[in-house]
Amino acid sequence: MATRRSFLKLALAASLGAAAPVLGESRRLERRRIPGTDEFLSSVSLGNSNAFRSGDFDTAREILDIYLGSGGRYVDCGGDGALLVASTARSLGYVDEVFLGSYFLGAEPDASEEQARQLRATAGKTSLDLMHSYPEDGVPNWNTFRRWKDEGLTRYIGVARHNVRFYEMMMKLMRTGTVDFIQVNLSPLETDAETRILPMARDLGIAVTINRPFVNGQYFSVVKGQSLPAWATEFDCMTWAQFSIKYVLSHPAVTSVLTETANPKHVRDNLGGGVGRLPDEKTRVRMRELIQSFA
Ligand SMILES: NC(=O)c1ccc[n+]([C@@H]2O[C@H](COP(=O)([O-])OP(=O)(O)OC[C@H]3O[C@@H](n4cnc5c(N)ncnc54)[C@H](OP(=O)(O)O)[C@@H]3O)[C@@H](O)[C@H]2O)c1
Repeated sequence: MATRRSFLKLALAASLGAAAPVLGESRRLERRRIPGTDEFLSSVSLGNSNAFRSGDFDTAREILDIYLGSGGRYVDCGGDGALLVASTARSLGYVDEVFLGSYFLGAEPDASEEQARQLRATAGKTSLDLMHSYPEDGVPNWNTFRRWKDEGLTRYIGVARHNVRFYEMMMKLMRTGTVDFIQVNLSPLETDAETRILPMARDLGIAVTINRPFVNGQYFSVVKGQSLPAWATEFDCMTWAQFSIKYVLSHPAVTSVLTETANPKHVRDNLGGGVGRLPDEKTRVRMRELIQSFA
């Protein structure tokens, strides 16, 4: 007899097929290794959705069920939204599958530690998966983060920012060996990360998650009214959302791309970016030039 999980997977595959045009031969959401470990993340992640931040429980539950039920792992979340994600994923039965990327930004270690413990208890996990902060001096005290990791409060430490002006600070931190993950912005419209910080992450064996694949929605204004080129089918791309996701995922340093949406149809569309073939380097240049010509 089918288990609830296998049923959900089948239902999901069917709903993905119904909602999105046929992709290539493979419909399996790709997983990528966290460098230096035996752990894998889904190549497409869920960003900190407005449904989480605004406490829209029904929508949050629906999008988490679609995402986690189709093999997704990483969910990026902060503040009270993190508690909502943790409790919802747990109630859906995904305690082990969900990989929570959370943020602790306060300068007061005791308050942040209490927040982290509360999130861990809500998620039903022995340790949190990934705790992030920003690279600016003093926020946080990285020694505190290192202690939390040594004590098992978190398994991984990350630094996250969304603009080129933070890259130097992030690279300085990367050289100290403190962080296991970085999170930076990348899309065909914002490509600065490709020059130095992504190659450095690759050389140092640091996992990379990507934010702003749709430039917080501006990307869709840029491509609005434009036809997807016929050559996009060569890398199993059927929509403009998948075009940017596949651009990001075809960079060799990238572990996973965070896609933010509060719309279940968009979750299905974005998951399609994590299956099938990816563009080669020559095609990436073509993709970048095309999108930048619209801007
Ligand atoms: N740590 C940091 O400094 C930092 C900064 C920025 C972002 N982030 C993380 O990165 C995540 C993503 O970055 P972002 O916030 O810039 O958002 P994004 O993913 O670049 O864009 C989100 C926007 O795109 C729309 N969208 C998503 N999928 C779509 C689709 N298939 N078709 C049409 N529209 C679609 C969403 O609207 P709908 O809701 O209507 O789908 C929303 O308006 C965030 O959620 C957060 O987790 C972190």
